[in-house]
Amino acid sequence: MEKVLWNGKIVNKEDVRISIDDRAFHFGDGVYEVVRVYDGELYLADGHMKRLYDSARKIGIQLDMTPDDFLASLVELREATGLIDGTIYVQVSRGEWPRNHAFPDQSVAPQIVGFTKQAKRPLEQMKSGVKATIIEDTRWLHCDIKSISLLGNVLAKQKAVEAGCFESIQHRDGVVTEGSSTNVFIVKDATVYTHPANHLILNGITRQRIIELGRKEGINIREEAFTTDQLLQADEVFVAGTTVEIMPVIQVDDKKYSDQPGPVTLKLQSLLNEDISQLASVKH
Ligand SMILES: Cc1ncc(COP(=O)(O)O)c(C=O)c1O
Repeated sequence: MEKVLWNGKIVNKEDVRISIDDRAFHFGDGVYEVVRVYDGELYLADGHMKRLYDSARKIGIQLDMTPDDFLASLVELREATGLIDGTIYVQVSRGEWPRNHAFPDQSVAPQIVGFTKQAKRPLEQMKSGVKATIIEDTRWLHCDIKSISLLGNVLAKQKAVEAGCFESIQHRDGVVTEGSSTNVFIVKDATVYTHPANHLILNGITRQRIIELGRKEGINIREEAFTTDQLLQADEVFVAGTTVEIMPVIQVDDKKYSDQPGPVTLKLQSLLNEDISQLASVKH
């Protein structure tokens, strides 16, 4: 029977009872995280915990446990499910209350649900590269919050699927923001550019790690916005996220960059790969 996390306890999935009065159900009123598990180890877990607490704080949800205790419950979930390679999804909603836009009483406890999913690394696509399409970013202006209200992102991803693409690259007035569930990077003359971490993007944990690892290696990485024209004139493009890691983009709409991932993308992929293998070697 599948084990899941429900308000601090590991229970059978069938035993979870969530009311239709949960605010996640009415309003998408909550926040979430997705943590990658490699070889039984949670990758960049502290960063995910920090962002979860930041997101909760930004929407006024108070968690009555420390980030360390929260993380311990995710580790417990991983152990209970025996997950070796995949993801842990966890969401925190504002809790159960008769439908009303205003926040419920302070006494209402957040509802926490977590589950695991087996997933392989998308190694083939990471090697061959993928296609993307440019669309307008029509989401709200608090994209730094990892909100479970993902309608804008869902519609953006569907546009990619309908265009036969892996991802949509969104822009506001011609300035590239991010993908439907990834951050976007371009390389021009050996310099890497990605949108600054502000309210217009989710500050990806993978994004942060790429910047850290790349700079340590002497790669020039600028957190600077770029336009769709610059995107189309770039030498290399890639998108990044917890499950897709560093995914090379070899075509955006009709613009073909190359038949295979470029050298800077490959270098960053190898740095991230090394970082992931170090995590596994800590365990052995
Ligand atoms: C909108 C958006 N941007 C960026 C990312 C990448 O973030 P991370 O690297 O933390 O997975 C995600 C991940 O789900 C996302 O939904």
